[in-house]
Amino acid sequence: MHAFGGTWSKLKLDCVEEYARAYLKVMQKQPRYTLEYVDAFAGRGTQTVRTRGVSTDMCSFFGDESERTDTEEFLIGSALRVLRASSQARRPFDRFTFIDADRDSCDELRSRVASEYPTLMPAVNIVCDDANAALKRYVGAADWNTTRSLVFLDPYGLEVEWDLICKLADTKACDVWYLFPLGGVIRMMKNDGDLPDAWSSRLDKLFGSHDWYDEFYKPSPQQSLFGPGDEILTKDATTEHVVAYIRRRLGDVFAAVSSAAVLRNSKGAPLFALVLGVSNPSPKAQAAALRIANHLVKGLNRL
Ligand SMILES: C[S@@+](CC[C@H](N)C(=O)[O-])C[C@H]1O[C@@H](n2cnc3c(N)ncnc32)[C@H](O)[C@@H]1O
Repeated sequence: MHAFGGTWSKLKLDCVEEYARAYLKVMQKQPRYTLEYVDAFAGRGTQTVRTRGVSTDMCSFFGDESERTDTEEFLIGSALRVLRASSQARRPFDRFTFIDADRDSCDELRSRVASEYPTLMPAVNIVCDDANAALKRYVGAADWNTTRSLVFLDPYGLEVEWDLICKLADTKACDVWYLFPLGGVIRMMKNDGDLPDAWSSRLDKLFGSHDWYDEFYKPSPQQSLFGPGDEILTKDATTEHVVAYIRRRLGDVFAAVSSAAVLRNSKGAPLFALVLGVSNPSPKAQAAALRIANHLVKGLNRL
């Protein structure tokens, strides 16, 4: 196992890479399947993240806040990490689909793959498109009797639509790591429940129905003081509640759902929840996937 550490971005990437390694090991025993990896928000191959570090510079000798510096950390992104894991595995992935809506990112990723993994180029398909549209096409084109896919959904925010989640779950052949935009969702849920229509319909698309509203907004016990027709709502959208709700929603469509890792910024505020949905109906396959995923998630939540 590689040691976890550093920023939440690195933790997320370590987790998915470790899972890919373990997935390939388990799938060695299933030679009849074509194994595919799909990265739906693949990025450009590397990313630079800002971290708060401690300076070792002599200028910080006085030991006050000036010791803390913003540093830039260079990270290898998910697509290149999984190519690395696969090229080191006894049983590698047979195909890779990397999707990104940004043309420059696709071009940069293509040239990195060509220079760092030239022998894998014929197995790599880079698709410059919206992830929802491209993944739905991917799901529609694959033969799910003979294919098993590991899918990573790594959006910036609320880009993933619920009907895509349903389509992936319906394959009964995909393991899906979903970086759910916990912080964005909590921020959009205003205390008084009076959300702009655009935000409300964005949340409907994310959760697949409007039920989230009644889940997170309840009539206030003070109601009777103001009389009928003057409804006051109380918001209950804690981190734990939103995580439990999205796990429950995923459980409605996936055969099994892992525990969720809550990824936080340097001030402890929740940013994302990382969770695995397993669509394979086989209890044995689910047990293997959950054992690995829950172990990785436990490690992340302990940090
Ligand atoms: C968080 S970054 C992904 C980072 C990447 N997984 C990595 O490890 O380097 C999100 C990526 O999604 C892309 N993106 C944003 N909206 C998208 C959409 N609707 N469909 C596909 N890609 C999108 C962005 O161009 C960006 O590269």
